Parts: sequence; structure tokens; C-alpha cells
Amino acid sequence: MSEIKKIKEEYLLKLNKDLDQNKLNEIKTELFGKNGVVSTKFKQLGSIAENKRKELASELNYLKNELEELILKKNENIQNKEINKKLENEKIDITLPGRTYFAGKIHPVSQVIDEVTSIFSEIGFSVEEGPDVENEYYNFSALNTPENHPARDMHDTFYLDNSKDLLLRTHTSPVQIRTMLKSKPPFKIIVPGRTYRHDSDQTHSPMFHQLEGLHIDKNVNMGHLKGCLYYFVKKFFEVEKVRIRFRPSHFPFTEPSAEVDIGYKIQDGKIKIGEGDKWLEILGCGMVHPNVLKNAKVNPKQYQGYAFGVGIDRLAMLKYGINDLRAFFESDIRWLEFYGFDPLDVPTNYRGLSR
Ligand code: DAH
Repeated sequence: MSEIKKIKEEYLLKLNKDLDQNKLNEIKTELFGKNGVVSTKFKQLGSIAENKRKELASELNYLKNELEELILKKNENIQNKEINKKLENEKIDITLPGRTYFAGKIHPVSQVIDEVTSIFSEIGFSVEEGPDVENEYYNFSALNTPENHPARDMHDTFYLDNSKDLLLRTHTSPVQIRTMLKSKPPFKIIVPGRTYRHDSDQTHSPMFHQLEGLHIDKNVNMGHLKGCLYYFVKKFFEVEKVRIRFRPSHFPFTEPSAEVDIGYKIQDGKIKIGEGDKWLEILGCGMVHPNVLKNAKVNPKQYQGYAFGVGIDRLAMLKYGINDLRAFFESDIRWLEFYGFDPLDVPTNYRGLSR
């Protein structure tokens, strides 16, 4: 067998094996590199007798072309294989079940705070906040609650030290004082926040939420208070008409003071707000006592106004038909799943209820 044929057979055998890119490159160098088998053969042509040279050269060229073509093909194959392998590995298996995800829910208390905030902000109230840990002065004395006044017992206060100075605020009313002290009238604020009392049953929890309202200006009277509360109750419960009753009451920080009831009835086992002949107490309110204004460095001869305090949890229970307050704070995820609100849902109050 001629030497060229031998080379051909040897390399056809090598090239027809299953090769990777590196191996193929190696073979290519072995053949056509500087000292490669074929390159060497070409170099040797010069020393061959002239009569044989031509034949050998053409044989050699033929071999070169054949092997080069084969290498090119192999190269293509290897690259295709690699691409296919990549595609195979990165393939998305659309038959796999989807990953479950859990969307959080908005707690009814947060939902109601958002709703009342948006209702009051539409009529010019801004939001204020105060600390949960209060001192006796802001929580009671500055609010015109004398030493030994029954309100101090009534509130079942959690005191934080023996001197009874530091306490967990029993209502959001101290923020009235804090707000008035830090700037000048007029004031038109609401204060949503946590409040604390030593109390626990189906409708009371040691920690609960209140919304305080305060409007102080030069000509604010009880008519404004009534108008504001009518507006609020209608908007909040999404009813066109509502029955409201102001009952005389007593709070140390207001004079006169009133408790507000709203009319309701039970229909098909559900509570219906605004109609019916039953009454439900929802808040306390009144005209801010001159002593409170004085304590807050506001001149009661020039300024007066109203204040109110609503139980936020109570509002949530009424509007969303939840009958045990304690469940609000038990952090049971199943409860929240049921009573909570979808964060992407538009709040009901934005759905265009006419005023
Ligand atoms: N702070 C009172 C309470 O916790 C509620 C209240 C009543 C707030 C009358 C007021 C008000 O601002 O004017 O029971």
C-alpha cells in the first residue's frame, strides 16, 4: 500500500470516531500543522524524482482536500451537537406543575385605617401620630382629668413604673395635646393608633385601636362636629342615608360631651347600618374643654373646636361582619386569609360613592 493511502486510511479511521472539539483540533494539527504528516509530505515533494513528483503531488492534494473536507464536516457536527446539548439542558418543561406562591393579605385593621384616613383627608384632615408609651400628664392631666377622677380607674391603665408616671396610653387623645403644643392653630388632624387597657373579652382586647379627631379654629361649633361625623359615617359604611343620635355624656376633655349612636337593623342575620330602630354606640365626642386648650397653649377666647374618638376595631367588626375582636390579634393565618384584603384591590371607598 502506498504511504499516502496508509495515511488516508489511518486518518479516516481516526476522524470517524466520536470526537470532541479538542480531539479534532489535535488531529488537524497532526495532519496540517507545521510538522504535520501531510505538510511534511508536501515538503518532501522537492526531493522526489521529477517523473514521480507530479503524480504524487496530485495524490497528496487529493488527500489534503478529502481530509480537510472531512474535518470541516466533523467540526460542524460537533458544534451542532454542542448547541443541541445546550438547548436540551436549558429546555423549559412546561408539563411541570407551577410553583405556588402566597400573596399576603391586608389586615382588616390596616384596611380600615387606610379607609378612614382617605375619607378624612378628603375634607382637609391631616394625620398625626404619638408614642404608645405616654406619661401621665399627656394621657390624663393635660386632658383636664383631675387626680382621683374616675376616668383614671375607668381606663384600667397599664402603668409601667411605680410612680405611675409612665404608662401605655389608654386613648389617642394625648396626641391632641402633643400636636397643639408643637405648632400654632388652626388644627385639623386625625390620629390613628394603638391604645391599651386592662380588659379582655369578646369585644375588648388589652391592645386595640382608636382614631382621634381634632378640629380647632376661630369659628368651629357643634354643627361642624355633626356635619363632619355624618359625612364620615355615610362614607365609611357606604350608605346614602344614615340615622345618627347624639346622646349627652361626659368626658373631662370636652364640654359639652356626647356619645354618638348610629341606627341599624338585623336583616337576614346580618347587620345593616343606617336603617332600623336599633342603636349602636360608635364614638365619643364633644367641644374641646377650655382647660385643654389652655394646657396646650391655645387661647380659648380666640379658638375653639371639636374632638372625637372612635374605636377602629369596632368599625372594622361592624363593616366587615367580624364578631370576635380577639381574633384580630391572634395572628391566625387562616383567619387573615378569610377576612384580610387583597393588596391589589381598589379600596371600596374609591368606588365613587356620591357624597
Ligand atoms: N378618649 C375617649 C376614650 O378613649 C374617646 C373620646 C371622647 C375622644 C370624646 C375624644 C372626645 O376626643 O372628644 O374613650
